[in-house]
Amino acid sequence: MENTIFTRRSIRRFLGKPVESEKLDRILKAGMQAPSAHNGQPWEFLVITEQNIKDAVSKMSPWAGMVAKAPVTIIVLGNIDTPNVRWIQQDLSACTQNILLQIAEEGLGGCWMGFYPDEERVKKCSEYFNLPKNIIPFSLIALGYSDDENRYVDRSNISKIHFNKY
Ligand SMILES: Cc1cc2nc3c(=O)[nH]c(=O)nc-3n(C[C@H](O)[C@H](O)[C@H](O)COP(=O)(O)O)c2cc1C
Repeated sequence: MENTIFTRRSIRRFLGKPVESEKLDRILKAGMQAPSAHNGQPWEFLVITEQNIKDAVSKMSPWAGMVAKAPVTIIVLGNIDTPNVRWIQQDLSACTQNILLQIAEEGLGGCWMGFYPDEERVKKCSEYFNLPKNIIPFSLIALGYSDDENRYVDRSNISKIHFNKY
């Protein structure tokens, strides 16, 4: 149980050390490598590194305080002008999870914060960044170096698995 899928954890405390641009590049590419319905790839990204913007974003949700102290926060955006829009939440979740896994793979820590479908969070973010009407802020991922560890916890639960009948 040592690969990244098993050891990835939500990391919410970060060191000041900056994230190398090559790592950030691979993390964003991992997001774009996700599966999506009819290969629609409805994602876009806002990458936040400036302190005044981090401070503003950290206040958009009661659970996003860590953004102010993370070296980087990625906002996963969804473009609803896609023919397969009814699958967009699944597409963007796959994208967000790919990003989280690559963060751990790079020896960094990260945490997923939910935005969509919380109307208040979506509204605050859309207004602050003046997003076009067809772009929704879906999720936030704070990331950076941390002294908190990605480590395995056993969540396997046989009672959740149903073979052939429920
Ligand atoms: C859709 C979603 C929304 C989440 N929102 C938040 C959040 O707003 N703030 C936060 O600190 N963690 C958030 N998390 C992280 C979960 O709390 C975390 O994944 C869960 O407790 C399991 O812990 P682990 O990620 O360390 O395995 C979110 C996770 C998901 C999938």
